[in-house]
Amino acid sequence: MNVLVVYGSQFGNTERIARTIGAALESRHDVQVVGARDARALAGDVDLLIVGAPTQMFGRRLIVRSFLDGLRRQGIGNLPAAAFDTRMGTPTEKNAAASETIASRLEAAGCRLVAAPESFLVAGFTGPLVDGEADRAARWAVSLAERVAAGAGDRPDRAPGVERV
Ligand SMILES: Cc1cc2nc3c(=O)[nH]c(=O)nc-3n(C[C@H](O)[C@H](O)[C@H](O)COP(=O)(O)O)c2cc1C
Repeated sequence: MNVLVVYGSQFGNTERIARTIGAALESRHDVQVVGARDARALAGDVDLLIVGAPTQMFGRRLIVRSFLDGLRRQGIGNLPAAAFDTRMGTPTEKNAAASETIASRLEAAGCRLVAAPESFLVAGFTGPLVDGEADRAARWAVSLAERVAAGAGDRPDRAPGVERV
């Protein structure tokens, strides 16, 4: 399966999660891990799209926004996808997680979410990741790929892949 992981990261923690996800999947899948700025357009084949960003300003600042806007303009129809973020604390009604915003924008672009939005915790404003979170991300990624593989009949007619710009 072709997996594309797109991330935004200010201090490196979300990038670390994205690269951990890539490493967890690469023995069984073709994986690309790409910064959102380098993934502005999509073309080719992707079977699973995973997008992550840090939660900033209660979910209102989203540093992968232009990538997601591009997906929506492109209209990518039924691509299996999942969203994650890194953040300092548990999401509340007022303190939304970036992964929730990403997930709704993925859906708006036509993606089919294969899991609930997931948050991975950092210990302070600039990190580091809380112990065990990278391992949890690896397990989460494997479970996503298994879910998509199990629902292979639901694959989109034509799913996109990354085109570097
Ligand atoms: C401008 C700014 C706003 C932030 N706002 C929040 C917030 O509302 N809630 C939260 O849990 N963490 C907040 N954080 C902490 C980030 O979630 C944390 O910096 C991020 O997880 C680190 O990921 P990164 O290393 O990939 O940038 C904020 C960080 C920055 C820089």
